Amino acid sequence: METIHRSTLRLLPISLSALCLTRPTAPESKRIRLPISIPGILNPKPAFLTSRKSYSSAPSPVAKAGWFLGLGEKKNKSLSLPDIVKAGDPVLHEPARDVELGDIGSERIQKIIDDMVKVMRKAPGVGLAAPQIGLPLRIIVLEDTKEYISYAPKDEIKVQQRRPFDLLVIINPKLQKKSNRTAVFFEGCLSVDGFRAVVERYLDVEVSGFDRSGQPIKINASGWQARILQHECDHLEGTIYVDKMLPRTFRTVENLDLPLAEGCPKLGSC
Ligand SMILES: *[C@@H]1O[C@H](CO)[C@@H](O)[C@H](O)[C@H]1NC(C)=O
Ligand SMILES: *[C@@H]1O[C@H](CO)[C@@H](O)[C@H](O)[C@H]1NC(C)=O
Ligand SMILES: *[C@@H]1O[C@H](CO)[C@@H](O)[C@H](O)[C@H]1NC(C)=O
Repeated sequence: METIHRSTLRLLPISLSALCLTRPTAPESKRIRLPISIPGILNPKPAFLTSRKSYSSAPSPVAKAGWFLGLGEKKNKSLSLPDIVKAGDPVLHEPARDVELGDIGSERIQKIIDDMVKVMRKAPGVGLAAPQIGLPLRIIVLEDTKEYISYAPKDEIKVQQRRPFDLLVIINPKLQKKSNRTAVFFEGCLSVDGFRAVVERYLDVEVSGFDRSGQPIKINASGWQARILQHECDHLEGTIYVDKMLPRTFRTVENLDLPLAEGCPKLGSC
């Protein structure tokens, strides 16, 4: 699930989409001098933009944007990271399969988990499901940090019940609602970047599954963490948030703060 809110985007002098559209294609001599204050980033190595390894589709604007923002890691490490798969790729629209318990400790699965955590942090996002790197496997990772939360307005953090939590890796998660309480808020997805829509989610959930060492785990979550868990578990069913959104609330990130259309519910807990 995507974490950059309007306030973080305001730190950028121009929009990410504009960057992605203009930068990689601009010829060296005609490269537009973008009003960016971070030194060094106007001289991208073309190879770095094109030789990205992918489990599935083409290089993603999000991955590029993450790199451009200096949110990534050392160049060499980034080169071997998978791209985030975007809406329309069948892997995002089909159910994923269980990881065999005996496989959890394998080098392959451990590497997939490491990659997922890196891709999530680099994006940056607060959650990622394996289908989002092109793998139809039931693995999710999630994490919300003080830093990410500090970018959101204080009143929003409060009503969303957003609290930091440590990295969670859950294999073969099973989600159950623990109450009928729900909340309606905007959410976004790294696979549908640049957009937001209101989705109604349960406020209290329990998720059981296995951690990366193969031990059974059970998590009680509420508020924003419960929303992230529902969003990521939905990915494993081939469901993305646009399948569940209130359609008339769909908008670009830039328009996030504009008023809701008539007939849309008020944001908050129900
Ligand atoms: C990057 O990887 C290449 C080989 O893959 C290696 O030769 C080079 O030293 C590495 N560079 C850094 C900065 O680690
Ligand atoms: C949720 O509501 C349904 C009926 O609407 C009820 O049967 C169920 O017990 C409720 N669940 C909880 C956890 O309160
Ligand atoms: C989750 O909450 C239930 C009560 O709703 C409690 O019995 C259980 O011990 C909690 N589990 C964890 C792992 O905190």
